[in-house]
Amino acid sequence: MKTLKLIGPLKQLLTLAGLPLKGALNDQQLEIIENAGILILNDKIVEVGDYKTLLRTHRDRRIKKIEVKGAMVALPSWIDCHTHICFAGSRAKDFAMRNAGKSYLEIAKAGGGIWDTVQATRAASIAQLKKLTNSRIERHLRSGVTTIEIKSGYGLMPSQELKMLSAIQMLKTPADLIPTCLAAHMKPKDFVGTKEAYLSDIQHKLFPMLKTHHLSNRVDAFVEQSAFTPEEITPYLLGAKAQGFDITIHADQFTTGGSALAIKLGAKSADHLEVSGEEEIQALAKSDVVSVALPGASLGIGCAFTPARKILDAGGALAIASDWNPGSAPMGNLIAQASVLAAFEKLSTAEVFAGLTFRAAAALGLSDRGILAPGMLADFNLYAIEGYQEILYHQGQLAPAQVWKKGKLVKFKDA
Ligand code: NIG
Ligand code: FE
Repeated sequence: MKTLKLIGPLKQLLTLAGLPLKGALNDQQLEIIENAGILILNDKIVEVGDYKTLLRTHRDRRIKKIEVKGAMVALPSWIDCHTHICFAGSRAKDFAMRNAGKSYLEIAKAGGGIWDTVQATRAASIAQLKKLTNSRIERHLRSGVTTIEIKSGYGLMPSQELKMLSAIQMLKTPADLIPTCLAAHMKPKDFVGTKEAYLSDIQHKLFPMLKTHHLSNRVDAFVEQSAFTPEEITPYLLGAKAQGFDITIHADQFTTGGSALAIKLGAKSADHLEVSGEEEIQALAKSDVVSVALPGASLGIGCAFTPARKILDAGGALAIASDWNPGSAPMGNLIAQASVLAAFEKLSTAEVFAGLTFRAAAALGLSDRGILAPGMLADFNLYAIEGYQEILYHQGQLAPAQVWKKGKLVKFKDA
């Protein structure tokens, strides 16, 4: 008989179970177990409940008790469903120029923008790219983020997109990495031909390789008047779908159109939505598309937040992600950003926690995480605090005391 592990006793355990995927939530709906334990076998949860009851119920089994010292609050570990952390270089000058009032065009002319990162990333070796990406993953892990989506999109030619996605695939980390192909980030400046020709190249030369080498099963596109319009991108995304990829869209960041396309094509998520209006919000709420707020991009650019309150009140599913990238969202602190979004958009703690756990999992098409319940992955964080409200109150400054991923305690170098 296999040995079970019992972690506890925990002052509070928030399961995040029993909550709907869509719509507003209040904190009274949070299931909180006091004096709790988490019983795990290998990488999964066997049961959560009262610590002593768990011990009694399973007294016939071999149980290894992993006792915690002091008050601890446990909840599912965080999921960041939208990042661009595989990149080289810095765009500090973009940030300074933006804040000094320079326009997008002026910044691009001065060598900034996405194309700047494309050049730095293309120039980096795969080993350098792995190292840079890994250091960002490590930071996320320390803050309790154990599932991380990572987009390509700074290669913008089949060989360089392959380099990025291969670097992500080769990384050895306790975190689960969900790679997404964002070759449709912009038409690369050195591509000779139309946008249609570029997209066709990607679809026919890159997509089959992604499938063969299991590099990604998700395709993203920057749908924007300045990148790819809904009309320009539709055949590409339909092609990706036909080839078996899940779709996600950078939508309604500066101009609308992207979210309607996400709904039409049955995308898993529509991300950004800073300029979504009443019509877009109502349509998203009626759909199965998860709306992803990216407060880090609003903070980086200095623009409005995604209308998270309105999306939830309309009945939509709302996830919150970091968008961590060198241009618009360099901060990379998901919990700080979610706390700020909560303060500005008036989100309940339950709504924020849901947006960082099971609703973020849904944005990635994952149903095995984000909730602490039997059969789910044993991915959870323990915080040395008296009550769960401390987490967002500290606005990203409070790190978990322990991070568990797939039933194992994550070890950090200096810990
Ligand atoms: O999600 N909007 C497009 N892409 C990124 C920015 C990438 C960059 O500026 O490097 C975003 O904000
Ligand atoms: Fe993004």
